[in-house]
Amino acid sequence: MPLQIESFEAYRSAQKKSKHNPEQFWAEIANHFDWQRPFKEVHSGKMEDASTRWFGDGQINITENALDRNLRERGDQIALHWEPNDPNSEGQSFTYSELHRTVSQFGNAMRAMGVKKGERVVLYMPMVPELAIAVLACARIGAVHSVVFAGFSAQALSDRIEDAQASMVITANAGRRGAKTIPLKATVDEALKENQSVQNVIVKSVTSDPCFMDTSRDVWWKDAMLSTEPLAPCSAEIMDAEDMLFILYTSGSTGKPKGVVHTHGGYTVYAGYSFANVFQCQPGDVYWCSADIGWITGHTYIVYGPLLQGGTTIMFEGIPTFPDPGRYWAICEKYKVTQFYTAPTAIRALMACGDEHVERYDLSSLRVLGSVGEPINEEAWHWYHEKVGHSKCPIVDTWWQTETGGIMISGLGNLSPQKPAHAGYPLPGIHPVLVDPEGNTIKDNGKEGLLCIAAPWPSMIRTTYGDHERCLNTYFRPFPGRYFTGDGAKRDENGMYRVIGRVDDVINVSGHRFGTAEIESALNQTPGVIESAVVGYEHEIKGQGIHAYVICEQFPSESESIEMAKAAEGQVILGIGKIARPDRIQFVAGLPKTRSGKIMRRILRKIASGDFDQFGDTSTLLDPSVVDEIVDKAKRLI
Ligand code: PRX
Repeated sequence: MPLQIESFEAYRSAQKKSKHNPEQFWAEIANHFDWQRPFKEVHSGKMEDASTRWFGDGQINITENALDRNLRERGDQIALHWEPNDPNSEGQSFTYSELHRTVSQFGNAMRAMGVKKGERVVLYMPMVPELAIAVLACARIGAVHSVVFAGFSAQALSDRIEDAQASMVITANAGRRGAKTIPLKATVDEALKENQSVQNVIVKSVTSDPCFMDTSRDVWWKDAMLSTEPLAPCSAEIMDAEDMLFILYTSGSTGKPKGVVHTHGGYTVYAGYSFANVFQCQPGDVYWCSADIGWITGHTYIVYGPLLQGGTTIMFEGIPTFPDPGRYWAICEKYKVTQFYTAPTAIRALMACGDEHVERYDLSSLRVLGSVGEPINEEAWHWYHEKVGHSKCPIVDTWWQTETGGIMISGLGNLSPQKPAHAGYPLPGIHPVLVDPEGNTIKDNGKEGLLCIAAPWPSMIRTTYGDHERCLNTYFRPFPGRYFTGDGAKRDENGMYRVIGRVDDVINVSGHRFGTAEIESALNQTPGVIESAVVGYEHEIKGQGIHAYVICEQFPSESESIEMAKAAEGQVILGIGKIARPDRIQFVAGLPKTRSGKIMRRILRKIASGDFDQFGDTSTLLDPSVVDEIVDKAKRLI
C-alpha cells in the first residue's frame, strides 16, 4: 500500500482494510519508514489499561527518518524556511544537509554537556529556527523534549519543569512578537528559583537585549555550538519504538496540566502518514503551518510531519497582524505556499480586518487550506474558501488533539467531499464512534453523541507523565475499550463528522486549551477571593471567551471591584500567562450549588452566554435565589 492515498475510492478501501486487518494495514504503513531494527510485532496491549504498544520490538529514531533519509535524494532541497517577525529583516533557509548538520552539531553540544538518553529537556523559546533545531537535536540523542509555549508564565513553566524533572532548559534572551519584545530568560530564572533538577540552561541570543547569565549554569547557544567540532557526525541514539520522544503538557478538566507522552515509533509512523495524506504534498511543494511549536500542531505539522515527508516547511516568528493584517498572505505570496494550515481564530480575526488585506496578494500557488484547533464556523469557512482559496482550494478541517498525536478526522486534500464546519471522515485506520452517556453506541447517523475512538492507532497517548492512573481515568475508563476524546460530535446522514466542542470543563480560547479548574485555582490565589467558577461563552473571534464568577470575602463596591478585578486578572497572568486572562470577571455573592456542594455550571454557562431565563430544574439548588442575583449583575456586565 502506498503511504499516500490517491483517490477517494482508495480511501474507502484502505479504511475497510484497516478495519478487517489492522495489523497488516499498520505494518504496511510503518514499513515506509527506516527502522534501526525492524519490528515483528505490530501491536500489543489493550485500550482498557492503556498498555498499548506499537511496533514494540522495533527500533527507530525519528530524526533518521526526518533528516538522514532525505539526504540521499534531496540534500540540497530547502527543508525549512524561517520568516522573521520583521518583514524587513533577513530570514534564514536550511537545506536538508544544512539542517542535518546543525542538528548534529547541537546534538553533540548537548551530549558534551552531559545530556543522556531519556533525560527531559524543557524548551521555552520563541519561533526561531533554533527551536526546531533543539527539538530535533533532543530526539537525535534520545533526550525527551518538552516544549513549553513561550507565552506561559514563570509559575506555569516551573510546574512543567518540576513535573518533568528536566535536567536542561533551552531558551532565548527574549522573543519578538509584533511590536513587542518579550523577556524569556528572566522568566526562566524566575521559574528555576526553587528548582533542583536543572543543571544547565542554554540561551539563544535572539535580540540585542541584555539578560542575566548565571555562569555556573547558563551557556550561550553560540558558545555551546563552538565547543563542538562543526562537522562531526552525531550518531542517532538507538531508540526502542516505545521509548519516549516527547512530553507535551496540556490542560484537562481537573487539576494541573498533564504531560502527554508520545513515543518514537508510533508517533513517527502516524505523523508521517497523516501529513502525507491530509495535505497531499508533492515534491516541490512549500507547506506552511502558522501554529507555534509550543503546541501539538507545531510539533506534528511544522517540524516532524513535513520533514518525514521530505517537504519544505515554513516557520514564522511573528503574528498575523504585524506589520498589518496582510502578513499571512504576504508570506504565502513570498514563498509561493502550496498548503496553508491555520486556526479559525486567526481566520476570524483577519476576516474582521477587511478583504482588502487579502486581495492585495497573489495567492494562486495555494492548493490546500487547513483549519485546526476548534470548530470552524460556516462564515469563516466561506471566507477562507472564497477570499483566500479563490474557491478552488479544498479546506481540510482537521480534528485532533494533543493526545492523538496526529490528525484523526479530516478531508484528504482534494480527494474527499467537503462540507462547511464538518471535519468529515476519519483517516484510514481511525475508527471513531459516538456513544451516549451510558456508553451505548449511537448507530444512526444524524445524532449527537460523545466522540470516542474504538480502535488503537500508533500515535495515541501512552501515558500522562508520572501519573498513569490519571491517563486511565481521563481517557480509557469512562468507556472501557475505547479512547474518550472529551468532545461532543454529530454525524450527518452521510457519516461525516462535525465536532461540536468539549463536553468537559475544558475551554478552548483561540484554539488553546485551558481547564476551568486551572484558571479558578489561579483566581483563588487573589487576596480577598474566597471562591470562583469559570465557564466559557461564545466569542466572535476567539471561539470561546472566559467568564469568571468570583466570590470575595467582602463584596466589593463599584470602585473596589475595578481594583479587585485587576488583582484577580493579575493572578491568572502570574499562574498561567496572559493567554488565559479572563474576558469578564463578575463578582457574585454566591454560586449556584447543589446540596452536595457541586457547582451547577450549566446555569453559569447559560448566563454567560446571555441567556437569562428558563434554567430548567433548579430544585436541587441549595439557594435558588443566588441565580437571580447573578443574572441581575450579568445583565449589566454583558
Ligand atoms: O475540542 C477539540 C478541539 O481542540 C481540542 C484539542 O485541543 P489540543 O489538544 O490543544 O489540540 C489542538 C490542536 C490539535 C479537541 O478536543 N479541536 C481541535 N481541532 C478541531 C477541534 N474542534 C473542532 N474541529 C476541529 N477541527
